[in-house]
Amino acid sequence: MGVAGIIGGSGLTGLKNLQIRHRRVIRTPFGETSGPLTFGQMGGQEVVFIARHGYGHTIPPHRVNYRANIWALHHVGVTHVVAVAAVGGITAAMRPGVLCLPDQLIDYTSGRPSTFFEGGESMVVHIDFSEPYCQPVRERLLQAAGSADIVVIDGGTYAATQGPRLETIAEIRRIERDGGDVVGMTGAPEAVLAREIGLCYAPLSLVVNLAAGKSAEPITMEAIDMVMHEGMEKVRKVLGNVVPL
Ligand code: HPA
Repeated sequence: MGVAGIIGGSGLTGLKNLQIRHRRVIRTPFGETSGPLTFGQMGGQEVVFIARHGYGHTIPPHRVNYRANIWALHHVGVTHVVAVAAVGGITAAMRPGVLCLPDQLIDYTSGRPSTFFEGGESMVVHIDFSEPYCQPVRERLLQAAGSADIVVIDGGTYAATQGPRLETIAEIRRIERDGGDVVGMTGAPEAVLAREIGLCYAPLSLVVNLAAGKSAEPITMEAIDMVMHEGMEKVRKVLGNVVPL
């Protein structure tokens, strides 16, 4: 049985049902991680948790050191990763409060260090990324949600934007034409790096707002926070059921 890694996004800087054993700062060849890794147990399973934006939520999406975070998780023996993230909903089913397990990814980010294979000593490698997410973790998440009586949408395309600003209406229209169902700012290069290093990685996305132009109301942080609070309780329940991975 592998060691489960959980990457917490906005609204999930800790896990109440994680019995914490210790925290450890990991030195990486890529610099500092978003914070120390938290080691603990959940339902008898070893879990390593990291808060993507830092425990005080101080690191914006474009400044997260994705390489350091993914390298550190792999370094301490993590084999499977659930990546929790808040997203905006684009297509009809993706209403605020909905949980989604994306199965595809489009990367609209730019300028982020997004590979471990920089050439030279670290080689030139082109990984297969046709299916960006790890099916065994997706299936465990589906089962866990089912046994917790929590509805999740199985499948969807995650569009990763650069941020930190939200999108324009035209950008969301374009993403929708491209086939995007939800939009977030952290799904790339995180998923890419996980695949490159050999982690079995899948996202668990919580829709916290309708994407730009999908609602008559402007997108406010107050409204997002309200959905986030309740939604992350559902995420915690799913995670509490998902281990062992
Ligand atoms: N766009 C991009 N990222 C997001 C959104 C959004 O509307 N909501 C939460 N993360």
